[in-house]
Amino acid sequence: MVIKCKAAVAWEPDKPLVIEEIEVAPPQANEIRVKIVATGLCHTDLYHLFEGKHNDGFPVVLGHEGAGIVESVGPGVTEFQPGDKVIPLFVYQCKECRFCKSPKTNLCEKGWSRLRYSVMSPEESRLTCRGKKVLQFMGTSTFSEYTVVNEMGLAKINPAAPLDKVCLLGCGICTGYGAAVNTAKVEPGSTCAVFGMGAVGLAAVMGCKAAGAKRIIAVDVNPEKFEKAKVFGATDFVNPKDHSKPISKVLEEMTNGGVDFSLECVGNVEVMRSALESCMQGWGVSVMVGWTDMADFSARPIQLIAGRTWKGTLFGGFKSKDGVPQMVNAYLDKKVKLDEFITHNLTLDQVNDAIEMMKHGQCIRTVMSVSPQ
Ligand SMILES: NC(=O)c1ccc[n+]([C@@H]2O[C@H](COP(=O)([O-])OP(=O)(O)OC[C@H]3O[C@@H](n4cnc5c(N)ncnc54)[C@H](O)[C@@H]3O)[C@@H](O)[C@H]2O)c1
Ligand SMILES: [Zn+2]
Ligand SMILES: [Zn+2]
Repeated sequence: MVIKCKAAVAWEPDKPLVIEEIEVAPPQANEIRVKIVATGLCHTDLYHLFEGKHNDGFPVVLGHEGAGIVESVGPGVTEFQPGDKVIPLFVYQCKECRFCKSPKTNLCEKGWSRLRYSVMSPEESRLTCRGKKVLQFMGTSTFSEYTVVNEMGLAKINPAAPLDKVCLLGCGICTGYGAAVNTAKVEPGSTCAVFGMGAVGLAAVMGCKAAGAKRIIAVDVNPEKFEKAKVFGATDFVNPKDHSKPISKVLEEMTNGGVDFSLECVGNVEVMRSALESCMQGWGVSVMVGWTDMADFSARPIQLIAGRTWKGTLFGGFKSKDGVPQMVNAYLDKKVKLDEFITHNLTLDQVNDAIEMMKHGQCIRTVMSVSPQ
């Protein structure tokens, strides 16, 4: 049966979201309908609304960092049952394609993202509002009381997990942590620099620390972020606004030549370049974590000729269905932090307040309650 429920609809770019009643179709073959209990807001939601603004990407229900409970399953679904606790995944893992079978990547050939980066949602949607199809952002749409996802894009998690905390593992925290651990492969005793102290950057700091880095330099233009950075293991703090010379020069001097690993968690091509140029010749590795497809990036070839490596990461390199339940257990075992990222708790009705706070750098993560559990 069709479910009528509440969702925050983005009708067009640059406008506040509107709380609407939407219709959520029953799950079709290999699909699962999920009651979303809690969701975070990630900068990538803001990117789509205010920066990417691709016309074909609207109307859309945003949100891709959620957790919930299976409401019903479509034909052919054997892995999930009503009542299971789950996290929707914006990166699929079909476990059968050549990407899924390779340990070298976490991309999946069946995922929406390979062909529709600019629109940031699959063509198909199970959501409608006022007679119109509403797209499902990144295949998930967690700013809705109910959503429908494919079984390749859903992780079953430990029933002991608190959904209002582990929702953050649906994007930001796995992304930052994995960028350090899986993509950069940070080494014990190394020196790291992380640019951008939002949740993604803070999670990267946490990953650097877990990997045994001895020095972790936090870089942000908002000095209010440094207090939190300390909590996750940062040892040094640099505000580019306090220096007249390029930030790469500042880091080079602080580290006698450059850092071993740098991670860009801002989504700005100039900062990506600075992060690369902050790396040590010979072996420095720089990872692009921030999300942008608006501009070309550039650097002098000699940067790479001299032995630096420049990489990017999607969802921290985690194979999603395998990795997310493991990270949930790591949280329950107190091996990764989540509570410390949450600065605000709101309800879905207050989503525009959450957006404003992120826009103005006044929060790390806001968790919104969506449906009662
Ligand atoms: N690769 C992926 O799979 C993936 C997944 C999730 C998020 N992201 C991206 O990661 C980025 C960070 O996301 P978030 O949710 O943590 O965002 P956020 O807005 O909470 O944090 C961004 C931080 O960058 C800082 N900043 C801005 N300009 C800066 C500069 N010039 N130098 C240093 N710091 C600067 C801001 O002050 C802020 O603290 C975004 O671009 C987001 O789209 C990528
Ligand atoms: Zn995200
Ligand atoms: Zn696959």
